[in-house]
Amino acid sequence: MKTIIEPFRIKSVEPIRMTTRVEREALIRKAHYNLFALYSDDVIIDLLTDSGTGAMSAAQWAAVMGGDESYAGSPSYYRFRDAVQALMPFKHIIPTHQGRAAEAILFETFGGAGRMIPSNTHFDTTRGNIESSGALAHDLVIEEGKNPQSEHPFKGNMDLEKLADYLETHGDAVPCVMLTITNNAGGGQPVSLENIKGVAALAKQHNKPFFIDGCRFAENAWFIKQREAGQANRSIPDIVRGCFAEADGMTMSAKKDAFGNIGGWLALNDDGFAETARNALIRTEGFPTYGGLAGRDLDALAQGLTEIVDEDYLRYRIRTNEYIIERLSALGVPVVKPAGGHAVFIDARAWLSHISPTEYPGQALAVALYEIAGIRSCEIGTVMFGRHPDGSEHPAAMDLVRLAIPRRTYTQSHADYIVEAFEELADRKDDLKGFQISWEPKLMRHFTCKFAHLAPN
Ligand code: F0G
Repeated sequence: MKTIIEPFRIKSVEPIRMTTRVEREALIRKAHYNLFALYSDDVIIDLLTDSGTGAMSAAQWAAVMGGDESYAGSPSYYRFRDAVQALMPFKHIIPTHQGRAAEAILFETFGGAGRMIPSNTHFDTTRGNIESSGALAHDLVIEEGKNPQSEHPFKGNMDLEKLADYLETHGDAVPCVMLTITNNAGGGQPVSLENIKGVAALAKQHNKPFFIDGCRFAENAWFIKQREAGQANRSIPDIVRGCFAEADGMTMSAKKDAFGNIGGWLALNDDGFAETARNALIRTEGFPTYGGLAGRDLDALAQGLTEIVDEDYLRYRIRTNEYIIERLSALGVPVVKPAGGHAVFIDARAWLSHISPTEYPGQALAVALYEIAGIRSCEIGTVMFGRHPDGSEHPAAMDLVRLAIPRRTYTQSHADYIVEAFEELADRKDDLKGFQISWEPKLMRHFTCKFAHLAPN
């Protein structure tokens, strides 16, 4: 059979509240055109994020009942730890309530004024944690990774020449090297095993610890299996272990590739740093055997980690994105190619070329998608990355709109509805207007800033 079906049946459903276009126009105006400010029951299809929004399996819900809520030494922690170590062979596994808490603890040690931290592309919370420590965050993704039309199979790769130069030039100012797999901010594009090894070798040569932001490790491993020479016959868990064996530690948001609604961890090998990290954890998150999570959450994650590496799941997961991308391309909508792991990215700068980057074409597209179809997406462009620590504003490398696909949550008819919204939009896109920001906070402005329509000229 050629049709790749959802490899699950639905046992429990959540109703979607339908709204009209007139209602949505009023709702988004009231939200100051920031989609984060909408009430989620005013959204028909929520593609704001794939984080914590997935459907848990029957086996995960069963595991929830087995959660042990002891403050210290809960068997739930040991089941969680063993499930993590079965895939990521690190010595110390420190649970946190989500990924950014692991980052905050990491950069409490590795951040600080005068320091500089390279990655392929730092995710916004990673950048926020680095910058709020006083350090600088730099993105060294390969050139192909900035070109939405490039069909390079591993557009998330780090530019190894740039990294070598960076490490030579900045030497002591660099406390560690990071790598995000898959590269979320760059389109959910994967990093090859060869590139992971290359980054590890450079870090080692310069005596710097190497940390992987592993949020979407299973999707990344699927792409390695499909696209990298010599990897086709390896199992997904084996590829995953191969990736993490190269690193000295990792940060993780278990809200992605662990099928959790909440959770994360910091993992590492160094005993001294583990002690510092656990002390920070006790102060900020909780005792090291629960770290801000309930025992039941830890059990749900332990089970989720066994499900995320299933090849039938991963095949369906990536196929969903390919299906939407094929249909949008046929409509002439410029999409980031090839399909990424967790989302479909629209090149809003190219599609709405009449709106300049400083008038936020991505925001204009995201607002229009909501008004037309009740679809909530997320701008990943100049709104998110345009403001710099020195206060200046520049266009981001790309102005993308991300349609993040929650795991095991929507069906193919939802995908068809998304495509239909773009069909509607294609006829009217040239009438869309840009935005200005009427209020913004100091850091990570996209979450809370307010927008106003540009005055007609
Ligand atoms: N790193 C990456 C690559 C991420 O995508 C995220 C979250 C984090 C770290 C932080 O993890 O949310 O558990 O604190 N990404 C979500 C998103 C929010 O929508 O892409 P967290």
